[in-house]
Amino acid sequence: MEREITRVLTPSEGALRLGADLILSGRLVAMPTETVYGLGGDATNPEAARRIFQVKGRPLDNPIIVHVSCSEEAREVGRMTPLAEDLARAFWPGPLTLVVPSRGVVPREFLGGLDTVGIRCPSHPVARRLIEISGVPIGAPSANRSGRPSPTDALTVLEDLEGLIPLILDGGPCEVGLESTVVDVTGSEPVILRQGGVTERMIVQAVGRVQVAAGEELLRRSPGTRHRHYAPEVPVLLWDRSVPVQCPPGRVGYVGISDPPFEVAWSVRPRDLREYAFLLFRTFREMERGGASVIVAELPERGEALGDAIRDRLIRASGGRGLAKSRSRC
Ligand code: TXA
Ligand code: MG
Repeated sequence: MEREITRVLTPSEGALRLGADLILSGRLVAMPTETVYGLGGDATNPEAARRIFQVKGRPLDNPIIVHVSCSEEAREVGRMTPLAEDLARAFWPGPLTLVVPSRGVVPREFLGGLDTVGIRCPSHPVARRLIEISGVPIGAPSANRSGRPSPTDALTVLEDLEGLIPLILDGGPCEVGLESTVVDVTGSEPVILRQGGVTERMIVQAVGRVQVAAGEELLRRSPGTRHRHYAPEVPVLLWDRSVPVQCPPGRVGYVGISDPPFEVAWSVRPRDLREYAFLLFRTFREMERGGASVIVAELPERGEALGDAIRDRLIRASGGRGLAKSRSRC
């Protein structure tokens, strides 16, 4: 892979123009979105797809989301079903990706062998402006090395991708902190493939119904979900509050809304689920940098606001491992 000099720039109009020039020459630009930072390339150029997979070390069967600036552009990229149009009207611009049949504008290199395309219209002004100036849809997975927690600030993008991409647009911290909700709208029922910023309840309120894919069905519809995701280098252990647990040895970091179950070296205490989502990946990265030997994370209840999205990321990051149970609290 050719070595790049990575520049980190505040997204002035000049920096955005430089970004658009890079995108149009098939190169990659990390950009802030309201969910997490994305690693953007021209979604009509197969060379950009090749670079994205190479830079991230991403498995080739994991398709890339295509970012557009408006519904009209979405209609050029995919066949927007009536259900897709309803959801786009309700939640775009915003943290929702709609999986629809592809029209062939996006080369198959982006799509992991599928004949569908995931389309998202982000609300972040920097992402929107970059798409507008470039004049092409932008394919962008999260801007991390594959398997790692998604970056929610420019420093973290630099940590993973320095020397691999020419430009990072630094738009400050991402508002949501977790990736978009991915919904398959190729059939008559919307099917959630990944929980995220737009919750199950919000979708039901908008279109009256929704299913959540799991197990074999999820693997069939979204093959890329089989791979390791969101994991820091430090092991993550889940705490679900229902049983007494043992305190793991070492320098323990804790993240959760409730008081930690034992004394810890370091704790991050979001006030509510929204703040938990905002802080989760940032905390993983900070505790990794700060030398925690294990991260204990409180598992939120099912079905509450962003609780399902946080649960999904935690279960994947931990590989489903919980704290060891004990008869007496430590
Ligand atoms: O918030 C986000 O979605 C961020 C920002 C940058 O937009 N992007 C992001 O991309 O999280 P990535 O590549 O890390 O995750 C994309 C997810 C994967 O789970 C992938 O399998 C799914 O979307 N996906 C994309 N296109 C799909 C398709 N055609 N069918 C099924 N799943 C798809
Ligand atoms: Mg990702």
